[in-house]
Parts: sequence; C-alpha cells; structure tokens
Amino acid sequence: MKATRRYVFGTWRYQRTWRPKLIVEADGAHFTDADGRRYLDLSSQLVCSNLGHGNKRLRRAMAEQAEKLCYVAPGFTTEPAARLGEKLAEITPGDLCKTFFSLGGAEANEAAIKIARFYTGAPKLVARYRSYHGATSGAIALTGDPRRHYVPEAPGVVHAPDCYCYRCPFGLEYPGCGVRCAEYIREVIEMEGAGNVAAVFVEPIVGSNGILVPPDEYMPRLRRICDEEGVLLVADEVMTGFGRTGEWLCVNHWGVVPDIMTLAKGLTSAYVPLSATIVRKPIADFFEGDNLFCHGQTYANHPLCCAVGLAAVEEYQRLDLISRAKRMGEKLGKRLMELKDDHISVGDIRGKGLFWGIEPVRNRETKEPFATRRQRFEPTMLSRMAAEALERGVYVMTVLNTMIIAPPLIVTEEEIDEGIQVLDEVLKIADAECT
Ligand SMILES: Cc1ncc(COP(=O)(O)O)c(C=O)c1O
Repeated sequence: MKATRRYVFGTWRYQRTWRPKLIVEADGAHFTDADGRRYLDLSSQLVCSNLGHGNKRLRRAMAEQAEKLCYVAPGFTTEPAARLGEKLAEITPGDLCKTFFSLGGAEANEAAIKIARFYTGAPKLVARYRSYHGATSGAIALTGDPRRHYVPEAPGVVHAPDCYCYRCPFGLEYPGCGVRCAEYIREVIEMEGAGNVAAVFVEPIVGSNGILVPPDEYMPRLRRICDEEGVLLVADEVMTGFGRTGEWLCVNHWGVVPDIMTLAKGLTSAYVPLSATIVRKPIADFFEGDNLFCHGQTYANHPLCCAVGLAAVEEYQRLDLISRAKRMGEKLGKRLMELKDDHISVGDIRGKGLFWGIEPVRNRETKEPFATRRQRFEPTMLSRMAAEALERGVYVMTVLNTMIIAPPLIVTEEEIDEGIQVLDEVLKIADAECT
C-alpha cells in the first residue's frame, strides 16, 4: 500500500527496502493477504500469537469490556486488572505475587529496572550480549544485540558472555565446561562490586538472539550465584512465557523462581498490547512501607487490555494448551531434527516446547556462519530463505543466522508437516552455498 510507505515507519530496517504485504485477516495458524493468499504462521508473528488468530472468546471478552469500560485512570481500580493480577500470582511460580501492568515487553523491563534499583539501592545491571530486552532507553541498554549500537551506551549496564553451547564463548564443551558461562557472571558481579549490582537480567531461553537453550544446571546455578552475591535475578519471559516452551513459564523447567519476572506477548496473545512486571513477596512488601513506588503511566493497568489478558489465561487453561505445547513440541522437535540429516547447511537445531531455532552454516566443520553481527540489517541468506518460504505459503521469522520456528500453541500435526515440507525446500538454497 502506497500510503504505508509514505506515512508509516517500518521497524528496524532501511525504509527504502520495505515492501510490506497487506494482510487483511487471520484465523487459527493462518493469515491471509489482500490477494486472498493464505500463509501458515510458523513463528506466531513475532512469537506472540500463542493462541492463534481469530480466537472468538478473546474477541468477545474485548467487545464486552469495550461496552462496559474502556479506560479509567490508574489511580482507580477495575475488576479486570485485579482479577488478572490475582491470576498471574496463581500461574507464576513461588511467591511472585504483585504486578505492575504496562503495554509492551520494553515497558515491563523498564519497570523491572526501576524496581530492582529502588529495592537494592544499587545502580548497576548485568545482562548478556546475545539478548533483546526492548527498544526503550533502559531496555535497549540492557539489550546486547546489535540493535543497541545505534544509541549511546547507558551507564551502569554491564554485559556478560552468553550460554551458547554451539559456539561457546569460552571455547569449552558441555558438560566438561562446568557451566563456566554461569560462573563467569559471578566474576562479573564481583568485579563490578557485588553491592553495586542491582540485578542480573536474562531470557531463560534466549529468543531473537538465537533460541539459546541453557544446560539444565545453568538457571539453578545462576539463581544460587545471585543469592550468594545479594543480587536480584530478573527473568525476561516476554517471549518464553505462556506455554511457549511447554511450561507456563520457562523457568519452571528448572524449578527456579526469579525475584522479578517480565511478561508480554502471550499474555494477551497479542490481541491487544499488555505486559506485566511481577515481583516476589519481599519486594512487594518493601513498597508497603515507607518506600515510594515511583513509577506509572497513563495506560498502567489498562482495563480493556487486562480483560483480554484474563480471557487469554482462561483460554490456555480451558484448551489445556500448556501440555499440548509440550506434546506438539516433541513432534516438532523430532521433525526438525530429521532436517539435520538431510541438509548439510544445518549446523544446529535447538529448542524446547514450541520454541525452536535452526542455525544454518556455510560449513558444518568450521561452523562458518552465513552472516556476521555487522550484517544485522542487511539482506542475508536467511532473509532470502524466509522470502522464499513466504512465496511457498509459510511465514517464518529469521534473525541474522537463526530461523525461529514457533507456531501458535493450537498448531495441528498436519500444519507442522506442511511447515517442515517448506523448510525442507528452502534449506536447499543454503545447501547450495555450503563450502
Ligand atoms: C525477550 C524479549 N524481551 C523484551 C522484548 C520487547 O518487547 P516489546 O517489543 O513488546 O517492547 C522482546 C521483543 O521481542 C523480547 O523478545
């Protein structure tokens, strides 16, 4: 549409290369363009449409709340906000119990940064290089990926190496490595001065920076390190929450309770914008006394968005989608692993539940990547493969060297097979460029 190119910015891209498809409707695991072509959504858009498209109960909840009350200042309260807060306390692990609602993942992380600093009185934050935490000032400062290079560095943020077994930053191999990447975070905290560090922020499984699944010891070890060093652990579950990895929350795989958890995307399955910053009881109690909760925004605890969030959580429960994600994830993982046998370009395949990454390489022996971090905003082999997949009726999100396979949790076996068939075809493009 000409008006789009003229009047609307395309995100994270050179504007002159933006040729967006006009999408007019969506249903289940598919969406349809203005020419009537249907596409299988193999990445739940930006890994957010967990319930699939066109869910009737969510639409109805939205309409009913819109009829009653769309907005009221956050100094008042509403039933949807109170009930969703209670629901999140139920479904999140341990004593995570009190929530600040905002509108997107970045805002949830901004609130987490402030809360961590208020609570500890410490200024510094540790995050990892291969991470994305959002586009606003604080969240982009936490972010380690190349998207942060375009804004001035924020003081107080220190980046640590990643838990990336396929390309271990320490050149080690699991399990002989002793999970050095977790221990190194202890070293970073100590070098920065433990009393100066408020929190360590991690995505429990790194999302847009490669679907990096840690070994089972990693998150429990990190929890212990944070406890021993007196630093808060913040789990950014914006992408991994709400059944994506086959558990309600990704940290449940390892029985870890973070001090603060941030949620968005699957919280409303992207039907309306909503995010949550939920804290453990000692932090909630801290703000019951003389400590000011000095944070807020016009759309905090938005009733229309919270009503949809509540309906979304009820849908995950009613359709038993968390166990379904685990079950379908096993099938998806098995089918993806078969691609590794058939394509020399497939370097690594990793994931959990319905959250998988394929990392194609130019050479399996040397693991030479198709693109470097410098090429983050350039056309790459993977963007070519994604364009080809779209031509064949399958939408798949790619970020630099990873294809992100994360269909809606309602995906059927037949749809998985349909997606795999197209991946099988487009991987031949990369095979042909292997050395
Ligand atoms: C792990 C993670 N945190 C935060 C964000 C930022 O969320 P939003 O784009 O809603 O601000 C994202 C977005 O993809 C994300 O993947």
